[in-house]
Amino acid sequence: MKILGIETSCDDTSIAVYDDNFGLLFCCTKSQSKIHSKYGGVVPEIASRLHFKNIFFLLNKLIKNKKIVKEEINAISYTVGPGLPGSLLVGATVANSLSYLWKIPIIFVNHMEAHLFSYMLDFKYFIKPKFPFLSLLVSGGHTQIVLAKSFGKYTILGNCLDDSAGEVIDKISNMIGIKYPGGKKMSKLAKHGKSGVFSFPRPMINSNDLNFSFSGLKTHVTRVVLNSNIKNYQVKCNIARELQNSIVSVLVKKCFKALKIMQLNKLVVSGGVSANIFLRKRIIDMSKKIKNCSVYFTKKNFCTDNGAMVAYLGMLYFKHNFYSSSKIFFSPKLSIVKNIYFDKC
Ligand code: KG4
Ligand code: ZN
Repeated sequence: MKILGIETSCDDTSIAVYDDNFGLLFCCTKSQSKIHSKYGGVVPEIASRLHFKNIFFLLNKLIKNKKIVKEEINAISYTVGPGLPGSLLVGATVANSLSYLWKIPIIFVNHMEAHLFSYMLDFKYFIKPKFPFLSLLVSGGHTQIVLAKSFGKYTILGNCLDDSAGEVIDKISNMIGIKYPGGKKMSKLAKHGKSGVFSFPRPMINSNDLNFSFSGLKTHVTRVVLNSNIKNYQVKCNIARELQNSIVSVLVKKCFKALKIMQLNKLVVSGGVSANIFLRKRIIDMSKKIKNCSVYFTKKNFCTDNGAMVAYLGMLYFKHNFYSSSKIFFSPKLSIVKNIYFDKC
């Protein structure tokens, strides 16, 4: 069984083919970050126009790939949300046109659920964590702790009340002269930074709930940046280090608090920010202190948005007999708790 996955929720255009026997056969992503970096962040109108251009480039690449015969593709899954409306519409239009043309079904995929299962693209996790388990979803748009009860059934235990972790990293990195998206470069700077030179708050670290709030941290660091000599490389590194310390401390504390509350010992970590080495190390160190605690990380190249996770989740739904006939559908504010197939939304 082969599923074509299409991802266009934000600014990465990506398509992939997943085979249930042979795994990932094809995955190609065209990033738009060079263009958006001129503006310091994603410009929705530009994003949708570029998706339209890029998706045909990627489809052409797929068609030329000799390993994949188009007639062998069983269904097309695409991201219906959450995401930018214009960007989602491009994916929806292309996926449905192909579905109509090739006479194969469509599978509606929730972007956050696709992130949640993206750790499965790493074959080292042949032994899957059995439900229930917890998932930390940390990306440019979301910071959530999710209880995965069973396939398709989720509860959000902790959510971001304002800016997500990735959004804050991108904003601060932009201020210190790093082009969007700054996460990867910020973690490199942080490596050379000294802890303790700056002291940033750890927002809501001791709150009674499992929610997050990073906008106050963003304001605090913005003020520090404005009053610092950011032309000095070491100053930049020190800021990056303390920002990373602050965000990671809060994320780790809340994840392990959630595991304790739910009396669970399995944690899955995914989303763009989960590529951060320091975050991974802190989670691993913490897990070693807990009896029988297992942590699962998404392979680094599948942390940020990609078609492979959409194709993989599409395959899971298809195997459970959930699919649709062609219909232009997208839902920009779709939550992971709302299941398109189970809840009939
Ligand atoms: O999952 P993703 O591609 O997009 C959303 O669905 O939002 O995540 C992108 C985010 C960006 O904010 C980017 O700066 C951040 O992930 N990111 C990182 C790292 N690599 C990417 N943040 C921290 N450390 C990294 N190594
Ligand atoms: Zn994403």
